[in-house]
Amino acid sequence: MPIAGPLLLCAFLPVALGQLAEPEPEFLAPLENQTVTQGRDMYFTCVVNHLSSFKVAWIKSDTKAILAIHTHMVAQNQRLSVTHNGHNTWKLHVSNVQKNDSGTYMCQINTDPMRSQMGTLEVVIRPDILNENESSEGGGVAIEGGTVRLKCHATGIPEPTVLWRREDSRSLVLRHDGGREKQVLRTYDGDTLVLGNIQRSDMGAYLCIASNGVPPSVSKRFTVRVHFHPLIRVSNQLVAAPAASDVLVQCYVEASPRAMNHWTRDTGEKLIPNEKYSMEETILNEYSLLMNLTIRSMVKKDFGGYVCTSSNALGKAEGVVRLQEMHMAKTTTTTPAPRIVDLKPRKTPHREKPKKYKRPTKGRKDSEDEGDLESTKIATLETRTLSPSLSATPSATKPPPWVLQRNGADTPNRYVSALAAATLLLLINY
Ligand SMILES: *[C@@H]1O[C@H](CO)[C@@H](O)[C@H](O)[C@H]1NC(C)=O
Ligand SMILES: *[C@@H]1O[C@H](CO)[C@@H](O)[C@H](O)[C@H]1NC(C)=O
Ligand SMILES: *[C@@H]1O[C@H](CO)[C@@H](O)[C@H](O)[C@H]1NC(C)=O
Ligand SMILES: *[C@@H]1O[C@H](CO)[C@@H](O)[C@H](O)[C@H]1NC(C)=O
Repeated sequence: MPIAGPLLLCAFLPVALGQLAEPEPEFLAPLENQTVTQGRDMYFTCVVNHLSSFKVAWIKSDTKAILAIHTHMVAQNQRLSVTHNGHNTWKLHVSNVQKNDSGTYMCQINTDPMRSQMGTLEVVIRPDILNENESSEGGGVAIEGGTVRLKCHATGIPEPTVLWRREDSRSLVLRHDGGREKQVLRTYDGDTLVLGNIQRSDMGAYLCIASNGVPPSVSKRFTVRVHFHPLIRVSNQLVAAPAASDVLVQCYVEASPRAMNHWTRDTGEKLIPNEKYSMEETILNEYSLLMNLTIRSMVKKDFGGYVCTSSNALGKAEGVVRLQEMHMAKTTTTTPAPRIVDLKPRKTPHREKPKKYKRPTKGRKDSEDEGDLESTKIATLETRTLSPSLSATPSATKPPPWVLQRNGADTPNRYVSALAAATLLLLINY
């Protein structure tokens, strides 16, 4: 390669040759403007006819730097290179495109006057979200009524737009003017989301999503927590149940941060799980749950008050459920069962049916003699009541399907009454 150096660009014997009949060099196609994502490779293509002894050079026009002449690199940049196809096509390659590569590039022929064409390289950068070292990093916590501020600092070229939404697609609620005004939105545009006068229902995960047209968009997840004094609601404050039945009592709890929940008798006695009591919690959402207490085989001393308590760092709440004895004879012959009745067999007979049939229980042995499947099914309920007056129930119009059975050796004096159970179910569903 005998020719080198930028000096060539200055007039180089074009005049003498220009007088001949040879056609002037010409560009066959314009340089393409290109938009390239940072990190990718790209090239400009310059096609020249009738170059004869002229040379093609590449120049970065904004800095006036000569990058290459013919196939010789001038710029000291490992990411640049030139190729020539041996005919009329020159290419300037830029690998691993960087932000400072953007600008106007010129393909130039050293005629006099020189000929050139230009193309631009626009470098774009996919959006990114900075992890800032802030207290709101990853989310925010506030006391109910306070303010949580979430900031999403996004970078990229062109500058990304930022929008917010809730992860579960519930609406965003923005409260202004101390809660007197509120805006319910699916998404919010802006890099900072301010949740003022925040409520427990605002708790959950929020996403900020940054996009600038260069895929992919990015998102960041924030967790918002709202702390408040626990709250307890008891829907059935009075529960009537017959002796020997199993009873479920329930408290609805809202608390955040998570609370310690427990049950006591109204005497203050703390209840622990054993064969008498079982306690369960059903989580409903980020801040609410159901406390279930099942009391088995009600006896006289089990009637009375039960207190559910929920306490967290912000305080304590209590709910009281009163259990009253229901006398079967009265309820079936006089006023209809009160709606507050909350007696439920812990397992429905229908669901239990197949299992019970397979299990050889003591009750089953007796019932086989009767050949009455219906009574077998109900007899396995854990409702054990003996009440002779039950025969007076109005539902007993056809021959009673129930039978009185011995209920095994463990409760020798107890009887299982199919009709009693059936009547109770009727009352519940009433
Ligand atoms: C490239 O962009 C410039 C403006 O930046 C425009 O004048 C020119 O026509 C474009 N070239 C092509 C080939 O589209
Ligand atoms: C362009 O940026 C790259 C890295 O981002 C750097 O190595 C290079 O020196 C820069 N070139 C110029 C001309 O500034
Ligand atoms: C965040 O800030 C703490 C001190 O405030 C510093 O020790 C830690 O290195 C910072 N982390 C980052 C990623 O800047
Ligand atoms: C608590 O009782 C409700 C019925 O009122 C039931 O749906 C729920 O599954 C119970 N929770 C547990 C953990 O047993």
